[in-house]
Amino acid sequence: MNPNLTHLQAYPFERLRQLFASVTPNPAYRPISLGIGEPRHPTPLLIKQAYCDAIMAPHGGLSTYPATAGELGLRQSIAGWLQRRYGLELDVATQILPVNGTREALFAFAQTVVNPALASVKNEPVLVVCPNPFYQIYEGAAILAGAEPYFVPSNPARNFAQDWDSVPSEVWARTQLLYVCSPGNPTGAVMPLEEWQKLFALSDEYGFVIASDECYSEIYFREEPPLGGLEAAARLGRPDFKNLLAFTSLSKRSNVPGMRSGFVAGDAHLVKQFLLYRTYHGSAMSTVVQAASIAAWDDEQHVRDNRAQYRAKFAQVTPLLANVLDVALPDAGFYLWAGVKGSDTDFARDLLALYNVTVLPGSYLARDAQRHNPGANRIRMALVAETAECVEAAQRIVQFVQSRL
Ligand SMILES: Cc1ncc(COP(=O)(O)O)c(C=O)c1O
Repeated sequence: MNPNLTHLQAYPFERLRQLFASVTPNPAYRPISLGIGEPRHPTPLLIKQAYCDAIMAPHGGLSTYPATAGELGLRQSIAGWLQRRYGLELDVATQILPVNGTREALFAFAQTVVNPALASVKNEPVLVVCPNPFYQIYEGAAILAGAEPYFVPSNPARNFAQDWDSVPSEVWARTQLLYVCSPGNPTGAVMPLEEWQKLFALSDEYGFVIASDECYSEIYFREEPPLGGLEAAARLGRPDFKNLLAFTSLSKRSNVPGMRSGFVAGDAHLVKQFLLYRTYHGSAMSTVVQAASIAAWDDEQHVRDNRAQYRAKFAQVTPLLANVLDVALPDAGFYLWAGVKGSDTDFARDLLALYNVTVLPGSYLARDAQRHNPGANRIRMALVAETAECVEAAQRIVQFVQSRL
C-alpha cells in the first residue's frame, strides 16, 4: 500500500458524524442542515435538455470514447465565457482543458506538478502551500504527491486575507505548488490585485506553480465580479500566465454538482503536461456532459438568476445572525464564516441537540499551524437551502445563542 494514504486526515463530514454520534437532536424541530456546501437550487432546464438531447443523438452521445482534451466546441464555448467574463483571449488549442469538476483536477494537478525527488537535495520534504482554513483536497493532493502541506493563516482583521508575509523564505524555497482559493471557502474573501502581484513575484523568484481555485467566482455580493487569477495576470502584464493555472467549475455557477464539469486554463506548458497526465489517468469528460456544459457556459441568464437568489437570501439571513454572532456579508461564495463564543465543536453539538440545526465547526476546516487553528471559535454555515429554510435556521440560532448567555 502507498504509505502516504495513512497520512490523510478524516474528512470534515466524517469528523462531524463522530461529533454528533451521541447527540439526539430535539424532535420538536424538523432538521435543517447548513453543514454541507452542496448547491441546492434547481438545475436549469436548458442544461438538462442539452444533456438529454446529447444522449439521444444518433452519433456521438454514449457510443464513442471522449477525447481527454475535450471537443473543440466545448473549448470554444469556455474561451467565449472567459472573454465575456474577464476580457481574456485564450488559445483553445493550448490553454484550456475540460475537467470532471474541479475537485479531481485540483487533486490530479499536484500529482502532475510535484517532484518529491527534489527533497533529497537538503533532505527536507518539498512543500505545497495552502491557505488555512482551506478546502481539504489541497492537503490530500499534497500528501499523496509526496509533498508536505504548509498552511498560511487567514487574518480576520484583514477580511480573512492570507498572511503571505508570514511565510519564511526557506519555506518558499522548498515550495513547488501554491493553492489559492478566491473567492475563499469558507471565508468568501476575494483576493485583490496587490496580493496577486505579491504571489507572482514570489513565483518568479522561487519557481513554484500557482493553482487558483475559483469555483465560487459567480456567486458574489459586491457590485463588481471577483477578480480572477488569469485576469490579474493579464492586468499585471503576464499574458502567457506563466506558472499559473485557474480552476473554474459549473457546479456552483449553474447548480450542477452532479454533472461533474469544469475547466482549467492558463499557462500552455502546464496545460500540456496536465493533458499528458490526464490521458494516462483516464479522466476524459463524457461527450454528453460536454454538450450540456456548452449549454451552461453559453447562457448567463440562469447565472444572474442564481446570484439574485443568493443575494436575497444573504440579505435576509446575515443581519439576523449578526445580532448574535461575529459575522458579516462576505465578498462572495455561499458561506457565512462566523465567530462564536467558546468552542466551535461545543457550539455545533449543542445547537444540534437543542434546535436540530447542523453547522460545521470551523476547526474541522483548518489545521493547527504556527501554534494556532484559525478555524477555532468559528462555524461555517452553507446557505444552500431555500431562503425560508435558511431564515428559520438563523432564527433558531439566534434563540440558541441568546439561551446560552
Ligand atoms: C473551494 C472548493 N474548490 C473546489 C470544489 C470542487 O467543486 P467541483 O468539483 O464540484 O467543481 C469545492 C466544492 O465544494 C470547493 O468548495
